[in-house]
Amino acid sequence: MRHAISIIVATAVAIFAVGIGATNTILSSAGQTVKIPGWDLQSVLHASSNLTELARPGANVSNWYRVSARTTAMAGLIEAGLYNDSDLWFSDNLNHIVDRSVFGTPWLYREEFTVDISPTQHYFLITHGITSKADIWINGKQLADKEHQAGSYGGHKYEVTDYLQSGANALVIRAYETNYLLDSAMGFVDWNPYPPDNGTGVWRDVEISQTGPVTLAPMRVIHDWMPGKSATNITVKVNATNFENRTVDGTLAGKITLGSQQIALSQSFSLGEYEEKTLSMTGELRDPQIWWPKLWGHQPLYTVTVTARVNDAISDVAEPRKIGIRYVESGLNQFGDRTFAINGQRFLPLGGGYGPDMFMRWDSDYVRKKFELMLDLGLNTVRLEGKQEHPELFDMADEMGLMIMPGWECCDWWEGWTYNTDVPDYVRFDDHDYWIANYSMLHEASMMQTHPSVLAFLVGSDYWPNDRAASIYVDALKTWDWQNPVIASAGELGYPEILGSSGVKMDGPYDYVPPNYWYGGQVGAAFGFGSEEGPGVGTPEIRSLEKFLSEDDLNDLWTQPDKGLFHMSSNVSSFYDRSIYNDALWHRYGSPNSLQDYLLKAQIMDYEATRAEFEGFASLQDAPRPATGVIYWMMNGAWPNLHWQFFDYYLNPAGSYFGTKVGARPEHVSFNYENKTISLINRLSSLVEEDNGSRSITIDLVDTAGHVLFHKRLQATTRPNYSQVIANIAQDISKIQDVAFLRLVLSSSDSEYDEVLSRNVYWLAAQNDVLQWDDSNWYYTPIVSYANYTSLQSLRKAKLVTDVIELEGSLNKSTTTLQVELKNHSTDVPAFFIRLVLIDASTNKSINPPFWSDNYVTLFPEESLILTVSFEASWPVNPAIEMSGRNIVTHTVVPA
Ligand SMILES: *[C@@H]1O[C@H](CO)[C@@H](O)[C@H](O)[C@H]1NC(C)=O
Ligand SMILES: *[C@@H]1O[C@H](CO)[C@@H](O)[C@H](O)[C@H]1NC(C)=O
Ligand SMILES: *[C@@H]1O[C@H](CO)[C@@H](O)[C@H](O)[C@H]1NC(C)=O
Ligand SMILES: *[C@@H]1O[C@H](CO)[C@@H](O)[C@H](O)[C@H]1NC(C)=O
Ligand SMILES: *[C@@H]1O[C@H](CO)[C@@H](O)[C@H](O)[C@H]1NC(C)=O
Ligand SMILES: *[C@@H]1O[C@H](CO)[C@@H](O)[C@H](O)[C@H]1NC(C)=O
Ligand SMILES: *[C@@H]1O[C@H](CO)[C@@H](O)[C@H](O)[C@H]1NC(C)=O
Ligand SMILES: *[C@@H]1O[C@H](CO)[C@@H](O)[C@H](O)[C@H]1NC(C)=O
Ligand SMILES: *[C@@H]1O[C@H](CO)[C@@H](O)[C@H](O)[C@H]1NC(C)=O
Repeated sequence: MRHAISIIVATAVAIFAVGIGATNTILSSAGQTVKIPGWDLQSVLHASSNLTELARPGANVSNWYRVSARTTAMAGLIEAGLYNDSDLWFSDNLNHIVDRSVFGTPWLYREEFTVDISPTQHYFLITHGITSKADIWINGKQLADKEHQAGSYGGHKYEVTDYLQSGANALVIRAYETNYLLDSAMGFVDWNPYPPDNGTGVWRDVEISQTGPVTLAPMRVIHDWMPGKSATNITVKVNATNFENRTVDGTLAGKITLGSQQIALSQSFSLGEYEEKTLSMTGELRDPQIWWPKLWGHQPLYTVTVTARVNDAISDVAEPRKIGIRYVESGLNQFGDRTFAINGQRFLPLGGGYGPDMFMRWDSDYVRKKFELMLDLGLNTVRLEGKQEHPELFDMADEMGLMIMPGWECCDWWEGWTYNTDVPDYVRFDDHDYWIANYSMLHEASMMQTHPSVLAFLVGSDYWPNDRAASIYVDALKTWDWQNPVIASAGELGYPEILGSSGVKMDGPYDYVPPNYWYGGQVGAAFGFGSEEGPGVGTPEIRSLEKFLSEDDLNDLWTQPDKGLFHMSSNVSSFYDRSIYNDALWHRYGSPNSLQDYLLKAQIMDYEATRAEFEGFASLQDAPRPATGVIYWMMNGAWPNLHWQFFDYYLNPAGSYFGTKVGARPEHVSFNYENKTISLINRLSSLVEEDNGSRSITIDLVDTAGHVLFHKRLQATTRPNYSQVIANIAQDISKIQDVAFLRLVLSSSDSEYDEVLSRNVYWLAAQNDVLQWDDSNWYYTPIVSYANYTSLQSLRKAKLVTDVIELEGSLNKSTTTLQVELKNHSTDVPAFFIRLVLIDASTNKSINPPFWSDNYVTLFPEESLILTVSFEASWPVNPAIEMSGRNIVTHTVVPA
């Protein structure tokens, strides 16, 4: 139902005192679309129940909260100052300080705006989803009800020509409370405690637009470029609707531009009374500039604009879009595993699962920094499980060359299928739910269709949609000329006929598994495509922990290893405590004797765990049963949490980050813990000449007393986008008595001065952890015998000499780069696990996010290493580096 029922306006309603914020005319010409800039917000419990009255200009809302455009109820209360983040996040405050009595009932959003009504024009109200459903009132009359305006992704365009009036207008939205099991919303499953309002409210923009007789929907763009083609036809399609009761003729004009490349398109049209039609314009683009994922090239984006004119006057302007020319292929290999290729090159997605803000607040700078951290990690993909955010997320990913895997979420309304026994029986789709699902898919497709960053859409998560829902999703995507892969689910429990098998496994782990797990060839190990898996790590460092944990909480971390912790996953989940993780930590690294000791051991364990996961998937991309991709569980948390993240809520990277950064290096050598082989990894583009060629690999093994157990230099030829086994060091590794350090250095070997491409140090025990594969469950595989790293506790102190200087000539003045030189002066002991923390010396707080070339490093006896760290500081800071580690004296160095 695209056209709301028109009701003839009687005469203007009485106007009270000039309404707040109603003085600026927000619309004045056809083709304009403006966002409602903000709202007055109040719970129905504290407002008049007479919407006729509230939805009239001048209604008294003096006791309401003033909030910005996209705000759930809870986000609004925070913005209004009732709560603040530092307070809410601290300890278990979320359980105590929020008045929950206002969250089982609807919330009212109200705004007044001024329009200059022109009798020949049409006006529209556009929604992009309201949680969980809403009634909409304008100027004392109801425009839509909650049956129609339903779902977090239910976007609709309502004609409001007969509702608006010249001068002040009032809009009221009554957003209904949310039950994740019964409503189409955005739930958090077992990720974290639920926000007190379950995300209820106007979380996305609401817009008003003005048009002439003909109105345009968002455009969709298709092209037929494939590798090898030097030209492509680009087709811009847009639905045009005539809102008049007579035939209207006009012209559609389009432009596709990038620098000096420009294509002008045009077409005339004729639309019968109230007719909606797809208008389509095609142009040929010679020598298209191709869009690549970051690691493989540039991200040229063409701007596309479309304007409809009637009688030489603008009737409507479609929202401009940026497109990228690129070609995604996907299918199943001989093992039934999902594979991808971009622009003809095999693409190995290495990514993380996205956590939005718990209160669905959107902050472009914050998300951009997260994406910069992802690229800094060497990763290329972000999976959105049911949290599609806003168009800006996709714009950013397009610009940055990061692939996005959007899709629907698991475990609640979204998976109300009869065969889903993980939700209560009353969670089942009825006709109206299918209707909502259809509008949700149509709307999200309209938002995503033009974005080159979109890799595939997953129409299911743990469960697959039934045949009826799958057809609805596929048809909706087709309606929007979707050209990307559509995948049935993020698991392999079953599939709808129309889509076939997902080829994507969801077999865990989510909790701790040791490094050799990834080479075990079973369950979640590195083969095929893992849609969500990780070793349950991501422990923040102390400066972050102190922001959200009390003294008692901090003590619990190391004195109560099995205790349920509020800042883990939700208390109904399998991940409410750290007992599996801590059991491994206690056994593998020894019982901690202080919080500091616990955190150091945790970082050591997190580092080796994530490094092995990414090395596993990268090194086995050409194995007999290839690893075809992995999404780490998760990229980040929706709040300050203790696990499942590359970097913490405050964007401070720690062990899981630096382990990943090594494991995901584009050119790298790695050690296979299971069969003791060395792999040469190359994830670079085969189109770049220098990525090919001769490499040298230096392998060194020393024991805890610095005795050389093994030294070897190898030559090998690297092949782009290919991983190969280049050595087996099982014999040499067998010399390890207790614990030893293995260093692998990869250099380009053409010049006299080798350029180090990757340097990587492992600590290895005489015996690996032993996994009980047969006892694997959905979230981990038990360890029956632990690797013994306890002697690392008694390493002799190493003498570390350090020097920090500030580098001159940063391109970007707001970015500062420091160079840190480390030298281990000891001849008889490695300096193990040196943690460098970038701090502001005047506050002793960490500067986030720091972009380190490498960190949490281990230096062999007499080895030196130069690292850099870059950071943005628009405020005056006194940067300094705090250094600590297993066997060095903790100290702070300021730039010379
Ligand atoms: C609601 O307000 C309108 C306009 O002030 C009034 O006409 C109507 O009687 C009110 N309805 C109720 C139920 O009070
Ligand atoms: C608006 O309502 C408040 C109480 O909620 C009252 O104090 C104030 O006088 C009212 N203002 C007008 C103009 O009626
Ligand atoms: C947060 O709120 C608490 C009390 O509600 C207050 O003591 C504290 O100063 C506030 N902090 C900030 C940063 O506003
Ligand atoms: C949030 O949703 C859950 C179901 O997932 C429900 O039990 C709970 O009552 C809801 N909370 C509110 C405030 O509506
Ligand atoms: C574009 O389409 C036209 C008309 O179908 C065709 O003649 C031309 O070869 C196409 N160009 C490319 C690059 O495919
Ligand atoms: C067409 O609409 C105009 C005003 O919008 C109205 O005056 C006219 O009666 C309508 N014509 C028909 C045939 O409905
Ligand atoms: C465009 O309009 C046609 C004709 O009404 C309709 O079948 C199609 O679904 C519309 N497409 C979109 C993307 O809305
Ligand atoms: C080591 O394991 C990898 C992958 O599991 C396999 O490809 C390789 O053949 C194995 N090598 C040896 C020597 O067993
Ligand atoms: C672990 O290694 C240490 C040091 O070599 C040794 O003392 C200890 O007995 C070992 N623990 C186990 C359980 O084997």
